[in-house]
Amino acid sequence: MKRSRTSKSWMNEHVNDNYVKQAHSDGYRSRAAYKLIEANQKFKLLSKNMIVVDLGSSPGSWSQAAGNIIGSQGKIFALDILEMQPIRNVTFIKGDFREELVLHTLENKLGDLKVDLVISDMAPNISGIKTKDQAGIIHLNELALDFSKNWMKPNGSLLVKSFVGGQYEDFIGEVRKAFNRVVTFKPKSSRDRSSEIFILGQKMKNVG
Ligand SMILES: C[S@@+](CC[C@H](N)C(=O)[O-])C[C@H]1O[C@@H](n2cnc3c(N)ncnc32)[C@H](O)[C@@H]1O
Repeated sequence: MKRSRTSKSWMNEHVNDNYVKQAHSDGYRSRAAYKLIEANQKFKLLSKNMIVVDLGSSPGSWSQAAGNIIGSQGKIFALDILEMQPIRNVTFIKGDFREELVLHTLENKLGDLKVDLVISDMAPNISGIKTKDQAGIIHLNELALDFSKNWMKPNGSLLVKSFVGGQYEDFIGEVRKAFNRVVTFKPKSSRDRSSEIFILGQKMKNVG
């Protein structure tokens, strides 16, 4: 089949992208690793022995990057609709985070553990209908925030990918109610044409 101009230009951009090249040489499964690495350099999110929940984890570069920092005494619980090839010290759950049963599977795996850091790179499949895509990501953002409220240690942090627009400002308001420090962040490794933005809540308030 003949390649369309769009897929050719995507391929050109992909192979010429320095982060893609860097990911190959550093052994990361995706260039997305550098978004978390950059966030960590800037905000000191990760440290040894942490318990991390990675939502929307496949193909696995955030789990790889986080695992390198938290070490073998730390634990990562990763979840995605898509399959993920195993990574040492990472417990993977395959399923849709919007489903109650999938949430319960994650909760059962956590057992008595409380979480230091929740990272969510989840995004719905883009339909091109802006209001629908926006509502879809805010729904995922809210689920990640609800999960954090129930499972996070006091002083824990949430890093969540969102898109500006729609209910985005309302969602940030919700994050502010739950965390003492809230910032937004666009990593250098995030493509310019992408409207993604990361919201970071640090120091979970003790609401109990
Ligand atoms: C940008 S990718 C994540 C890349 C990942 N952070 C990495 O570094 O390899 C977004 C992921 O979110 C997942 N996703 C989207 N909606 C989801 C949902 N409702 N439940 C679980 N995973 C979801 C997708 O399947 C996709 O793998």
